[in-house]
Amino acid sequence: MANEKSEKELALEIRTNIGARMNSPSAQRNRDPIRDAFSKSMPTAGTALEVAGGTGEHAVHLARAFPELHIYTGDPDEKARASIASRIEEAGLENLTGPHHIDVMINNWGVEEQAPYDAIIAINMIHIAPIEAVIGLMRGADRLLERGGKLFLYGPFRRDGEHTAPSNEAFDADLKSRDERWGVRDLEQEIVPLAQKNRIQLEDCIAMPANNFSAIFGKT
Ligand SMILES: C[S@@+](CC[C@H](N)C(=O)[O-])C[C@H]1O[C@@H](n2cnc3c(N)ncnc32)[C@H](O)[C@@H]1O
Repeated sequence: MANEKSEKELALEIRTNIGARMNSPSAQRNRDPIRDAFSKSMPTAGTALEVAGGTGEHAVHLARAFPELHIYTGDPDEKARASIASRIEEAGLENLTGPHHIDVMINNWGVEEQAPYDAIIAINMIHIAPIEAVIGLMRGADRLLERGGKLFLYGPFRRDGEHTAPSNEAFDADLKSRDERWGVRDLEQEIVPLAQKNRIQLEDCIAMPANNFSAIFGKT
């Protein structure tokens, strides 16, 4: 989703709504590759907390694929929560709960009761949020993950100071023109040091379609 066309669609995508339920073309495109990367690298049983749930499509897709994994999902945006609620109702899955009002920049996420979690999931969030959201996410991962639990980040990344494709560089500039606090994050130089401050270590990085990555971190 990091190529110029599809990422611009993500940020400016035309989402068709059926009632409160939003449909994201980009989520439809990337949900299968994300599920497959998840199945190789993440706990598929136990509990998972998804932040930045957006339309709710990924949470439903993952909950359907992994019935032994109970997913709690949420988003700080009211319209996103309405979409998630509608999708949860429609899906009727016993292993999917939400939507919670989770803002990772706030110290209490309101989902502490179910902790510790086996997994935390953040898909397409950290480039469309200020760096304080990454700091909050890593603190939350330290606070709420089980020892040995995993954090799953998906999206475009710079790798050790370099963009991985010209389209990602253009996307980065586009993000910054919309909000100077946003931008494609550098996995090695920016994210890993913030993670390590919170006992979270990078374990794997899986190349995904359209110059995206799934980055898997473990809590020590
Ligand atoms: C580009 S959307 C991605 C939605 C979904 N994960 C997907 O890939 O389709 C980014 C999401 O991040 C959420 N978000 C932004 N700032 C956040 C924060 N501080 N804490 C949690 N979520 C946040 C937004 O509300 C939005 O739903």
